Amino acid sequence: MIKNCLKLKDLSIQEITKILAVAEKCKDGAYRNVLTDKIVANLFFEPSTRTHYSFNVAEERLGMKVINFDPASSSLQKGESFYDTVKTFEALGIDAVVIRDQEDEYYNKLLGKIDIPIINAGDGVKDHPSQSLLDLMTIKEEFNTFKGIKVAVIGDIIHSRVAHTNIEVMERLGMECYISGPKEYEDDAYRFIDLATALKTMDVIMLLRIQHERHLSESAMSPDEYHLAYGLTLERVALMKDKAIILHPAPFNRNIELSDDVVECSKSRIFKQMRNGVYIRMALLLRSLLSSSEWEKY
Ligand code: CP
Repeated sequence: MIKNCLKLKDLSIQEITKILAVAEKCKDGAYRNVLTDKIVANLFFEPSTRTHYSFNVAEERLGMKVINFDPASSSLQKGESFYDTVKTFEALGIDAVVIRDQEDEYYNKLLGKIDIPIINAGDGVKDHPSQSLLDLMTIKEEFNTFKGIKVAVIGDIIHSRVAHTNIEVMERLGMECYISGPKEYEDDAYRFIDLATALKTMDVIMLLRIQHERHLSESAMSPDEYHLAYGLTLERVALMKDKAIILHPAPFNRNIELSDDVVECSKSRIFKQMRNGVYIRMALLLRSLLSSSEWEKY
């Protein structure tokens, strides 16, 4: 059976717990160079820094051979399709593909037609499973539990695959989830909390990038106005609970959703999230490329 990782909804709590446990072992130095016979292709059809290169580092740590596809110098420029590009890598003998694309559920074009695992590195506004897993790893390291942990996701909810993926899995894990920020970025499917209450009561403040390339041009609110109304400043950080933490999937807009001095303040776990991303992605690659019986032993 092909072990894709397409959306977290497909994974049971038991499977998610296993991935988090393997990631922690990877963080402790385990499983270096266990996939030296495997070749992986990173196919990023949409820009990425963290996800692309943390998969790259994870693959290197596992001893894999890595092909980093460059759309700009590929036959996409001659009109080759997404499907034919992925199918070509399969024909070349690649063992797995890591794919990011701007189209929601791009993988539906591939399912049943390619016989190698697909690891989703982000699709449109739908899912970003490895990001949510690294967020969960960072929360678990902090609080040692998910049950009852309160999180507010603040910002551009409606177009955020991180928000959608996280809220679904966090609620399944027993966390109490809210959204906050401007009404125009809200998604009615979720519970709203005002910023002042969120700062005082949440264990996790998760900020999202304001996708100004898509929104602020249509918005009544300028970046400065957004920062004034919703941006996390040190004054607002001082209102948070003692043990509360700040997460952000990044890239972040300094001095819009958070001020410069908050990025690396004592409550920020933003760079820890990035580091944990390497270990989560090692675990996902192991899950997809080891046999089920081998994976069970990890
Ligand atoms: N968090 C995240 O997905 O960042 P990149 O877009 O840089 O991969």
